[in-house]
Amino acid sequence: MKGDPIFEPLKFRTVTVKNRIFRSNISGRFDNYDGSGNRARINWEMKFARGGVGGIITSFVPVHGKGRILPNYARIDSDDKVPFWRELARRVHDEDCRLFIQLSHSGRQRDLPSLEYPGPAASSTSHPEDLHGLESRAMTVEEIRDVVGYFAEGARRAREAGADGVELHGANGYLFTQFLSSAINDRKDEYGGSLENRARFAREVVRAIRKKVGPDFHVQYKISATEYANSLFPWKNKGNTIDDSVQVIKWLEEDGIDAVHVSSGSSFPHPHNPGGGFPPNANAVYDVMIRSGRNTAINYWLFNHWPFYPLFRWWWKRRGGPINPEGANLPDALRMKKAVKIPVICTGGFQTASVIRDAITSGQTDAVSIARPLLANNNLVRMFEQGLDRAPRPCTYCNKCLGAVLKYPLGCYEESRFDSYDAMIKEIMTVFDPPSYPGDASVEAPPVVVPLRRSGEK
Ligand SMILES: Cc1cc2nc3c(=O)[nH]c(=O)nc-3n(C[C@H](O)[C@H](O)[C@H](O)COP(=O)(O)O)c2cc1C
Ligand code: SF4
Repeated sequence: MKGDPIFEPLKFRTVTVKNRIFRSNISGRFDNYDGSGNRARINWEMKFARGGVGGIITSFVPVHGKGRILPNYARIDSDDKVPFWRELARRVHDEDCRLFIQLSHSGRQRDLPSLEYPGPAASSTSHPEDLHGLESRAMTVEEIRDVVGYFAEGARRAREAGADGVELHGANGYLFTQFLSSAINDRKDEYGGSLENRARFAREVVRAIRKKVGPDFHVQYKISATEYANSLFPWKNKGNTIDDSVQVIKWLEEDGIDAVHVSSGSSFPHPHNPGGGFPPNANAVYDVMIRSGRNTAINYWLFNHWPFYPLFRWWWKRRGGPINPEGANLPDALRMKKAVKIPVICTGGFQTASVIRDAITSGQTDAVSIARPLLANNNLVRMFEQGLDRAPRPCTYCNKCLGAVLKYPLGCYEESRFDSYDAMIKEIMTVFDPPSYPGDASVEAPPVVVPLRRSGEK
């Protein structure tokens, strides 16, 4: 390990991380319907903290209920959520690991319409999302200001919880992308049109956060550096290019971000992200989403009838990135590194120590983030520490975890990686161990209130 660039500490402006590997954001429906966190979320994150990653960048954490993708994601939209995040930060820190909370808003990319906030989702545009036809409504300027405020409050709460920083989810088609993207944003006001106008929302959020939390708290931004917005529909606008994104990050650097996390793709999922192809089990997604958007019922039918599904999968793969996605975003990360002074983190397929080492020593990125390969091998970093170049049973990039995630607990669903189906399910269910009761350590149980009987009542 000594002298290995993977295990060199990474110094950000306000925080140091012990090595160059971050657990990348990966969402699962572990929490309570009302957005309060629970024990399963803590168990989940602890797998990776114990597995040796330098920092955990949490999954999508909505700053408001209107901005959730799905129910059962822990939110940071009110002060009573702070104790949960404080407990998570404390536990993660006990393992000498850092915690960065991903502040997020779905905009129109909302997989399940909300019970509390029905109707079209708030976005930059009133145009529905392309693949599923998720309904959308362009926000007024007053609403945009409210959302800027939700992000600033989210950052304040993250700070109060003892997190080491926040990441703004500016990638993969969610609300920030809906403003930034030339393929999505069709506004005619000061938030649409030129790149400068489209970046206004992100810049206002970063400035509002800085004003709220001060200079000594880490703020980073995840961006889809190249959007490839016409991957599925080649006749459409291709969206932002790496040149556009470099300019956006330069502006955000001026406004006070401390790092950039490089991803790709104008939606989630997208043929380029996560790489490896369309999940073979994605009809499970439509079991859940059948009523979510204008196209979901027809998609459900198509995905359950030959030959549409194999054809769609073929098209997805053809329009996506390289067959082996390891390091697919490195060229964009390098462009960022050349243009900005802040550290760059690159996501996308990393699971080989020699590839990661080379990406760092060749100056293409300062660190990498890993999602699926860590899902497959929670202790991948420990394997690297012991000198292994790759896990004996690596992630196959099959994306079955993605196909399962709306309906089943998040985990690795590639049966070929396990001795049996039962062994796979046993591993997936470890996230519920220890269970929420007894002894849920995150929150104190409220006192039981016995209603007083009025005289004469039985
Ligand atoms: C099931 C699943 C859920 C994900 N959830 C998020 C998320 O909440 N926020 C985010 O920024 N990226 C999310 N991602 C993208 C990953 O963070 C990562 O950038 C991408 O999968 C590429 O990295 P990998 O090849 O290491 O998986 C998710 C990916 C998967 C497969
Ligand atoms: S199901 Fe497992 S092997 Fe397949 S992409 Fe997900 S983590 Fe990797």
